Amino acid sequence: MAPLLKLAVVFACFAIAAAESPYRFYTWNVTYGTIYPLGPPQQGILINGQFPGPDIYSVTNDNIIVNVFNSLDEPFLIHWSGVQNRRNSYEDGVLGTTCPIPPGQNFTYILQMKDQIGSFFYFPSLAFHKAAGGFGGIKILSRPLIPVPFDPPADDYTVLIGDWYKSNHTALKAVLDKGHKLPFPDGILINGRGPNVTSFTVQQGKTYRLRLCNVGLQNSLNFRIQGHKMKVVEVEGTHTLQVSYSSLDIHLGQCMSVLVTADQQPQDYYIVVSSRFTSQVLTTTGFLRYANSNRPASGPLPGGPTTQIDWSLNQARSIRTNLTASGPRPNPQGSYHYGMINTSRTIRLASSAGQVNGKQKYAINSVSFVPADTPLKLADFFQISGVYHVGSIPDAPNGRGIYLDTSVMQVDYRTFIELFLKTMKILRRAITSTATPSGMDGGQWTSASRNQYNLRDAVSRSTVQSWTAIYIALDNVGMWQLRSEFWARQYLGQQFYLRVYTTSTSLRDEYPIPKNALLCGRAKGRHTRPF
Ligand SMILES: *[C@@H]1O[C@H](CO)[C@@H](O)[C@H](O)[C@H]1NC(C)=O
Ligand SMILES: *[C@@H]1O[C@H](CO)[C@@H](O)[C@H](O)[C@H]1NC(C)=O
Ligand SMILES: *[C@@H]1O[C@H](CO)[C@@H](O)[C@H](O)[C@H]1NC(C)=O
Ligand SMILES: *[C@@H]1O[C@H](CO)[C@@H](O)[C@H](O)[C@H]1NC(C)=O
Ligand SMILES: *[C@@H]1O[C@H](CO)[C@@H](O)[C@H](O)[C@H]1NC(C)=O
Ligand SMILES: *[C@@H]1O[C@H](CO)[C@@H](O)[C@H](O)[C@H]1NC(C)=O
Repeated sequence: MAPLLKLAVVFACFAIAAAESPYRFYTWNVTYGTIYPLGPPQQGILINGQFPGPDIYSVTNDNIIVNVFNSLDEPFLIHWSGVQNRRNSYEDGVLGTTCPIPPGQNFTYILQMKDQIGSFFYFPSLAFHKAAGGFGGIKILSRPLIPVPFDPPADDYTVLIGDWYKSNHTALKAVLDKGHKLPFPDGILINGRGPNVTSFTVQQGKTYRLRLCNVGLQNSLNFRIQGHKMKVVEVEGTHTLQVSYSSLDIHLGQCMSVLVTADQQPQDYYIVVSSRFTSQVLTTTGFLRYANSNRPASGPLPGGPTTQIDWSLNQARSIRTNLTASGPRPNPQGSYHYGMINTSRTIRLASSAGQVNGKQKYAINSVSFVPADTPLKLADFFQISGVYHVGSIPDAPNGRGIYLDTSVMQVDYRTFIELFLKTMKILRRAITSTATPSGMDGGQWTSASRNQYNLRDAVSRSTVQSWTAIYIALDNVGMWQLRSEFWARQYLGQQFYLRVYTTSTSLRDEYPIPKNALLCGRAKGRHTRPF
């Protein structure tokens, strides 16, 4: 009797917890459509006819139910970049956790914005769909009684910036599948539009929130507004010390919120976005438009930083957590006092590039990831052996040449690890919000570098640049993808999965497989619930 009773109580708790938070329902129809972002027509991926897709607007702890109808002629998945999906990697929308939605079918994602605030985005994770659109903004606002460290803005704009190709996603994927590198992109888009199209209207004297995300494929971008400063207030769910900048580097996959006050003469002002660290500089322009002004933007475009990596690293280091500001802190012991916790394991990751069987590949610690025929998470659930093996990627670079494998690293739940990303330009982890970059340096890492760490108020974020030491509290059981945000590199193998493992089967640690889970590969025809 006793064990049954306990189970019943656990289920009851769940029902109550879920009932407290509102549900928001979305129905999305994913289709191809013709778009003209850089002039010539090309095939894009639209959501409900829109490119970019609609914003997801939510409040901390909201349940977000998105029923996605795949009207493309190929399998499709959406990844919720930066959304923690706590205890629920089944909903992560990457091939290692979730079966693709077959053409003509639908799948309902069940997400909870648990203990999160901030600015994020979603995008299609399969094939090279990201090059065709299918992305959109995610806003998670604080709950009504939680103080926010700035006044409510007059408006809250999603600003998705990214480099873009005139070639369609099928053509780009074919280049990679043949073993070649991608050419240089053709331009930069702001909210899906090319030069001199996108504008944001402001009223003189008012302050606006811009949620900037780099949704591109290849390039870090610099963002600036003629005659206006931008005050950084939030980075991927952390309220930051509020510092003003005249231009900001936004690396692939990163998001941040800035406040812009319309404190100039009423007229139009240029918004400029340009590529960073490239010999040929791509530039695009949009407008900050004062209401009731008929004066077009004029004068020279504001210039971006001319120095390379140092400027960018200094800026990244200057963005720090406001320790006194409110904000959900899912793991107070881990994130808030992260500098005092002893790490249980040190993992060093190095990226490499090279040819395997005459084709371009990218690797982490020599392993270039190859997807399995069955999502790794489903292989775990159904105990299907032979899909992958734990330990298929070493904890540190070992100098081997690049080889192919379905790389999975196992780490223990509730431990705290130190992760070094050496020469790994950008790597996104989807484990928790508490990956805290603590040291950042353009040079070489030695153990003495630990003395340089910011052990107090680094911001936690899911994408980091250059070599960075990050601390991760492994507080989220599941199978989580770590990957390069250079989209061609992750496509050609620069990714692996972290299996955050516990022997516990409690619902407090991990949610059960969703009732509507799609089953594919060797999991096809299995049953997600016992009869
Ligand atoms: C999706 O859009 C296409 C094209 O407009 C339409 O034919 C199809 O019926 C729509 N599907 C759903 C589920 O709304
Ligand atoms: C597909 O959509 C229907 C509603 O139209 C819904 O009942 C069903 O659960 C969805 N399928 C999946 C796998 O989520
Ligand atoms: C940090 O947050 C506190 C509390 O909201 C606020 O009063 C203070 O101005 C913030 N500090 C900075 C430097 O942004
Ligand atoms: C994609 O691009 C290729 C190469 O330019 C072209 O042959 C193909 O027709 C395009 N596909 C679509 C659907 O536009
Ligand atoms: C956009 O406007 C800028 C500034 O007037 C101009 O230099 C540029 O040529 C324009 N770009 C296009 C594609 O029209
Ligand atoms: C970390 O390790 C040191 C040395 O072993 C020990 O003194 C300290 O109490 C540990 N800190 C925590 C938070 O466990």
